[in-house]
Amino acid sequence: MPASLVVWILSALLIVGVLTQRWWEPRLEARGVPVRRWPWHWWLVGYPGTALRIVSTWRRLAYLNGLSVSMRPNNRVIGRDLVVQGTALRPRPPRLSWPVPTKTGLTLRVQLHPGQTPGPYYAAARAMEHAWRVHSVRVTSPRRGQVIMQVTAMDPLKGDVPATRSPAPVLLAADVGRIEDGEPWLIDLRRIPHWLVTGATQSGKSSLLASLVLALAPQPVALVGIDCKGAMELGLFGGRLTGLAINRTQAVGLLASVVDEIQARMTVCRALGKRSIWELPEHERPVPLVVIVDELAELYLTDGSRESRDEAEQCGTLLLRTAQLGAALGVHLVIAGQRVGSDLGPRVTALRAQLGGRVAHRAHDEASAEMTLGDINPDAVVTAQNITEDEQGVAVVAMGGRWMRARSRLVTTADAAEIAGMDPPVNPFLTMPDPVTFEKGGVAA
Ligand SMILES: Nc1ncnc2c1ncn2[C@@H]1O[C@H](COP(=O)(O)OP(=O)(O)OP(=O)(O)O)[C@@H](O)[C@H]1O
Ligand SMILES: [Mg+2]
Repeated sequence: MPASLVVWILSALLIVGVLTQRWWEPRLEARGVPVRRWPWHWWLVGYPGTALRIVSTWRRLAYLNGLSVSMRPNNRVIGRDLVVQGTALRPRPPRLSWPVPTKTGLTLRVQLHPGQTPGPYYAAARAMEHAWRVHSVRVTSPRRGQVIMQVTAMDPLKGDVPATRSPAPVLLAADVGRIEDGEPWLIDLRRIPHWLVTGATQSGKSSLLASLVLALAPQPVALVGIDCKGAMELGLFGGRLTGLAINRTQAVGLLASVVDEIQARMTVCRALGKRSIWELPEHERPVPLVVIVDELAELYLTDGSRESRDEAEQCGTLLLRTAQLGAALGVHLVIAGQRVGSDLGPRVTALRAQLGGRVAHRAHDEASAEMTLGDINPDAVVTAQNITEDEQGVAVVAMGGRWMRARSRLVTTADAAEIAGMDPPVNPFLTMPDPVTFEKGGVAA
């Protein structure tokens, strides 16, 4: 057979395979055959199809959603039995740019008509998703007079996030998963010092904390854990943690030591005339300290006795002080809980206000998502509520007024065992001798 004929046959098979992928892929998957979704499917079929659909529906979509603007009188006769009073106007849809393809979808730019604002475009985003049959449309307006529409064709957060062993980009930045545009999800504690992680049970909170520990473990950072659910989650990282509290009495001791440490670091900075530990020369800088709390509510639960009420209040005060004073002194808080509202106990809302980074997994009710994201962005609340039970590990991440969807990386037991075998930084506390023991609370170190 001549070589050119083979090339033609193979090319024809390839094209037929691509065009019929939607038909054969689910059938193969149903039979247990692992199917890899090739990126070229998007470039060859997905992108041209979506772009065509956008261009062909734009005029009608703009008209129905009030994006078109009437510019000139329409002198056409409308119909024999119809009387039109006033001036009939011809709506003109806004000018749409060429759809620029991206890895996960495409981007469009629209020039606003004089007198228009981006508001109606934000409101029309859901209608665009349905009209264009795409996963999501995100509308932003970074420049005056312009609206950018980022179209995501298929949910890039489907499927597990692959493990990565890439080195940490900078100190205290942790690559914990993937965000919806396919880029790594970085939790950067230098930029946003304290984080709140919420979600219903089995939504992926502890897995995110595990992913954070996995990413921070190779860095010269002291990790301190509070896990009052029997230390079943943070206990896995045993040896790498500088301290671990497994009940509230131990947590009070541990947090008191952390507050003492903050005060000691303050004294050092004051003596050297510096406003934060990051201004100190590297050899004099104390080791950064990350306090990770799994299931905050356990710290506030009381049995009605006076002692337990006092202990819960003490815990709340110490956490709040850590959040208020820690950032400049290299002490960071990452707190996870199902619901973090005023119903938990005193000073919880004040603590929440200090936690600038927010991660909301699937929530059972609107109020829980609202508590985490409502004060940052109301749109994000709606997105968090749309996370389904099957999307464990998917969350809405909000920071500094921006928000996005992301999925954490699932940490395997083998990874956890490897971390547990690592050594914590030597002598991370200024206030304590080496080896570190949290004597106040009798904390297991
Ligand atoms: N990023 C992820 N990718 C895939 N699966 C995940 C991910 N995160 C969590 N899961 C799955 O969800 C299950 C529950 O996760 P996790 O224990 O982190 O939930 P949780 O919110 O801490 O629940 P709880 O409130 O009961 O402690 C995990 O056992 C895992 O199977
Ligand atoms: Mg958990």
